[in-house]
Amino acid sequence: MPRWLVIGAFFLAAVALAPFVLIARARVTTSPRTRIHPILDMDHQAKYLEQQTNPFFRDGRAARPPVPGTVARGQVYADDHLYRGRVGGEWATTFPFPIDEPKMARGQQRFTIYCAPCHGLAGYGDGIIAARADQLQEPGWVPPASYHTDLVRQRPVGHIFNTITNGVRTMPAYGPQIPAEDRWAIVAYVRALQRSQNATAKDVPPEMLPALR
Ligand code: HEC
Repeated sequence: MPRWLVIGAFFLAAVALAPFVLIARARVTTSPRTRIHPILDMDHQAKYLEQQTNPFFRDGRAARPPVPGTVARGQVYADDHLYRGRVGGEWATTFPFPIDEPKMARGQQRFTIYCAPCHGLAGYGDGIIAARADQLQEPGWVPPASYHTDLVRQRPVGHIFNTITNGVRTMPAYGPQIPAEDRWAIVAYVRALQRSQNATAKDVPPEMLPALR
């Protein structure tokens, strides 16, 4: 075999390996440049991304602000009773929906999560946070209110609903965390707690009275 043929064959074999070397390198290195894209797919197209500028509009923003007064779907909070605890401009004295046993159970469960840490399981304002603040002698600490004062017992349900929604004085607002239906369920449970701590013999079913005496 002529010598030039052998050298030529070796050379061709070495060149044939080059694509594999390049592919192997591409798999382990990164590049800031967009890869070569002969056929433009939808992942690579001329379009505006969020927060980009667009000289077409006078304010230069590509993303257009919503039309003033736009209301997102499912966010029409028009019902004053359900969402603000008000009826005819006054604090509601009724619930916006009937309170049955599952609602009350839900209220108890939500109360235990959101309110009991401060107000205590029975609503005397002696929750674990209040106990800890007492222990630390926190200056400026305002103890959580007891639900069993005449003042809070006489609050209309709409007022208590509003207290949960927007907070009151030093108590923070829980409206952003608790949906309106759950806030009403909690109000129902607060009412149940108030009744339980202020019960008379009239609240006991007659057939159970003898057991009490
Ligand atoms: C971070 C502690 C904390 C949590 C949690 C908390 N509260 Fe309060 N709450 C307070 C404090 C403190 C006050 C008294 C505010 C004051 O007088 O400055 C108060 C006052 C109240 C009052 C009396 C307001 C009035 O009419 O004068 C009600 C009713 C009440 N809270 C209900 C709730 C309910 C229901 C929840 C659960 C959704 C809740 N709170 C969660 C701290 C808390």
